[in-house]
Amino acid sequence: GLPARVRIHEVGARDGLQNEQTVIPTEVKAEFIRRLADAGLDTVEATSFVHPKWVPQLADAERLFPLVSDLDARLPVLVPNERGLDRALALGADRIAVFGSATESFAKANLNRTVDEALAMFAPVVARAKDAGAHVRGYLSMCFGDPWEGPVPVPQVVRVCRALLDQGCDELSLGDTIGVATPGHVTALLTALNEAGVGTDVIGVHFHDTYGQALANTLAALQHGVTTIDASAGGLGGCPYAKSATGNLATEDLVWMLQGLGIETGVDLDRLTATSVWMAEQLGRPSPSRTVRALSPS
Ligand code: HMG
Ligand code: MG
Repeated sequence: GLPARVRIHEVGARDGLQNEQTVIPTEVKAEFIRRLADAGLDTVEATSFVHPKWVPQLADAERLFPLVSDLDARLPVLVPNERGLDRALALGADRIAVFGSATESFAKANLNRTVDEALAMFAPVVARAKDAGAHVRGYLSMCFGDPWEGPVPVPQVVRVCRALLDQGCDELSLGDTIGVATPGHVTALLTALNEAGVGTDVIGVHFHDTYGQALANTLAALQHGVTTIDASAGGLGGCPYAKSATGNLATEDLVWMLQGLGIETGVDLDRLTATSVWMAEQLGRPSPSRTVRALSPS
């Protein structure tokens, strides 16, 4: 059966905004995060402590984080290396995420490392974060398909998942970075992970909606027992280092489906939609989310 409750891991302020062309004022980002928390999202990924030249859009992390750190919500941040961890811990961050790749091409493009060099880079990050009492999420990109390499073999994904957990990550997020996954593939990966001793209690799923499959994939994951779903308010998002990565699964579309299934999320859909409409005004273009469009007067 389906779970009674799902935790939504909101990534709009990070995965969404990292990809915007226009410079978004730090205060607008802070307001966005505040509104997302007010809409009932209890996990709102805030920003990334990455190299500012690699992701200029999030170069204001030092200014942004203190503007939101008083919020009740969990505020995870991305850190690729010890330099990033130092920056995050100095501001009191208590939930961090490393982000690996299942494929060599994307490890190179996103982290300037091989898959195993990236894992070696994460090892001291995870260890030190755990010592500091922080919760650690391990993202894994390109779990289904890769724009340079095509379909990604399931065992290749399972190997890196195991490595991240063995390093001490508390949870994983399986990324369909370019949105090519379909439900059968999702079930196959989750089944293989299960057989490798990776239970659904440590698995989150992170779908991009490039081919319109994100909700179908989410339903497959729910049926498999997954209860942590990543989504991005208004469907913002993409990844600057993955060609053809477009919007994430929109949080509103997800909440609409979960409400219909009778699954608790704690999210107020009207408030959330109003937030995405407000953000769309800031960005100067309408939200791509079907649910935002359907619920907002035009
Ligand atoms: P590199 O060029 O190999 O860096 O980049 P390096 O380790 O050689 O260091 C070079 C210089 O950068 C040094 O300075 C470091 O101090 C500095 P120097 O000594 O030369 O003066 N530096 C930093 N400065 C500030 N903060 C830091 C930092 N690190 C090094 N953290 C690096 C390697 C990992 C840094 C770079 O590749 C990088 O920042 N990549 C981040 C890319 C990124 O953020 N991508 C988007 C997030 S992933 C994603 O969106 C996918 C996801 O949504 C899931 C999915 O959909 O699949 C999560
Ligand atoms: Mg993503």
